[in-house]
Amino acid sequence: MLNVALPKGRLGEKVYAMFEKAGFECPSIKENNRKLIFENPEKGVRYFWVKPSDVAIYVERGAADIGVAGKDILLEYEPDIYELLDLGFGKCRMAVAAKADFRDNPQRTLKVATKFSNIAKSYYTALGRDIDIIHLNGSIEIAPILGLSDVIVDIVETGTTLKENNLQVTETIVPISARLIANKSSFKFKNEQIEAIAKSLAQQTEEKND
Ligand code: PRP
Repeated sequence: MLNVALPKGRLGEKVYAMFEKAGFECPSIKENNRKLIFENPEKGVRYFWVKPSDVAIYVERGAADIGVAGKDILLEYEPDIYELLDLGFGKCRMAVAAKADFRDNPQRTLKVATKFSNIAKSYYTALGRDIDIIHLNGSIEIAPILGLSDVIVDIVETGTTLKENNLQVTETIVPISARLIANKSSFKFKNEQIEAIAKSLAQQTEEKND
């Protein structure tokens, strides 16, 4: 049985559709209920819905053989997994943003609010900039408005959240998209099945980009 961790939500539905097209369908997943685990013994596949930011943990620890996670999570937690494929969707960027009138003073420690503390730390370390991290769990955009921080490091997709809170991007750190990931030992022992899925997903991704 191949165990697949799907990120709950819109992204996950798109991912499941790709697995279905790859020949690993599981019709019961479309029943509208609160169940989290679905399997199709005929196809030898079991899917489960997990919080998007938890997919990498399931895969790293082998509770899932493969899964789909955002590059943001992979950069932040550096799980010990194989990254097999860039799926080319769920595109956004990790960026620094601040109030329009913010002027940085390099002599002062920069106060940075973020959910992505490790990404922020490595970004500013590489710049040789002294920072004070304020770790938050959401609604990061509020921090500079209330004077809790000077800047934020967060995901920007359409830019609407920043705009509506009078913030603007000052630097882009890295582009982000969804990645197919695999547990290292599963990749060895269930290689045929995993490679077949990766190949089909790669084809589907290419077709979309044509
Ligand atoms: C993310 C991110 C931004 C927003 C960016 O938040 O933290 O707030 O999406 O999207 P936009 O550029 O299209 O406006 P999420 O919805 O994940 O909620 P959060 O507040 O829990 O981070």
